[in-house]
Formats: sequence, structure tokens, C-alpha cells
Amino acid sequence: DFMPVMRLDKLLSECGVASRKEIRQLIKSGRVSVDGVPAASSELKLDPNKALVCLDGAKIEYAKYHYYMLNKPAGVLSATDDGRQNTVLDLVTPEMRKMGLFPVGRLDKDTTGLLLLTDDGDFAHRVISPRSEIVKVYQARTEAPVDEADAAAFADGLILGDGTKCLPAGLKPLPDGSCLVEVMEGKYHQVKRMLASRGKPVTELKRLSIGGLKLDESLLPGGFRALEQNELCSVMKKK
Ligand code: URA
Repeated sequence: DFMPVMRLDKLLSECGVASRKEIRQLIKSGRVSVDGVPAASSELKLDPNKALVCLDGAKIEYAKYHYYMLNKPAGVLSATDDGRQNTVLDLVTPEMRKMGLFPVGRLDKDTTGLLLLTDDGDFAHRVISPRSEIVKVYQARTEAPVDEADAAAFADGLILGDGTKCLPAGLKPLPDGSCLVEVMEGKYHQVKRMLASRGKPVTELKRLSIGGLKLDESLLPGGFRALEQNELCSVMKKK
């Protein structure tokens, strides 16, 4: 039988317990146990799906992949690394920075709201792909309020100035003069270009939801947290 093996320090690091260096220290000081026995070495090999690994007596849940939601603030890039500018990865913990997380799709520098961070490339691909039919909802403020004619044009599928064809999209005016935009694709500056093509340039843009997952409004701008299992499933909910 194939038995996956992993070094104890690698397992703990993938779980985001601490930095590699701190992990070696934790093991040396006897605070990590494997199947009830204090681990003697960082190099101990084990099956991450079977071994009972505890830190200070508390069980460590091994997960291959990680999923977080971030309330993206304005002024940071949706990228993993930029020599000069701050990115969303500058907002998370040092442990999370070691997981190899990246943003699921991109929000513009000035766009705020729901951004997923993961190290699961297949998941990210499925969420982004228009073929998955996962609706992304944005709230936009525009220079002039949108109207029924704008909504009808969105529903028909807009053709942008450069000939780009958009899939049918939802547009709903809100009582405060802003609007909700529902799209299943994420072309470059898509929402801004769609509204600009109607003569309603965007002045503020915030993503509220992806599939069935809403931004947790208790997260302050720059705040983040791990997704619950049920929230992770809700992301994939189709239109
Ligand atoms: N559409 C845009 O124009 N910008 C974003 O950040 C997201 C969607």
C-alpha cells in the first residue's frame, strides 16, 4: 500500500503553526507529540492523514490546502509580490506568507471588498472560469445613477468600445444612488469598463460576494479569516 510520508516540520509548517525555525524549537522543547509520544526530531516521517499530531496537547488538523477571505482595502495590489507597492500578502501573518497563498482573481488597486486567498490552484481556476457560472456581485458608485436602459443593455450582453463582448450581466440600481453589478467573468477592469461604456464611470467599487459566499462585514478593511468548510462549499454555488 502507498503510504504518504511527510516530515513532521513540513507538516506543521503547512498547517501554518509557526515558522520553520520556531517549529524546530517547539519540537526540541518537547511540545509536539505524535500519536501520544513527544516527537524526538523534526525529521520524523509520518502520514499526515493518519498521525495524531498535537501541540501542547491540542490536536493539529492537517489540511493540504488553505482558504481565506480578506476584506481588501483600497491601495493594495492583488498580487503576491511587488518590489515597490504593498500587496494583499503584506496584510496576512508571517505563517500565512509561507503557505504560498495567492489571490483568487484580481481586484484593482482601488477596489475594496471580498478577495479569496488560497494555495489551491484548481480551486482558484474553477472560481474564476466563466464556465463555472459563479456570480460575483459588486457594489458600484457611479458619476450618474444607472437606469432601466443600462440594466437592459447589461442583460443583453454589452459590447465594449474595443469590441470586447461581455456575457449577460445583472445591474440593479439601489436606493442610495449606487448599484449592484452581477458578473460571471472577470476581464480586465470589467465592471469599470461596462459602466463606463454606458456613460456612467465608476467612482467606487466593492466586491460583496462570490457565488454563495458573502463578505463578512465584521472584517475591517485589511481584516481576514479562514473560511469555514460550509463557506468553502458555498463559493461554488452557481447562478
Ligand atoms: N471589475 C473592475 O473593473 N475592477 C475590479 O477590481 C473588479 C471588477
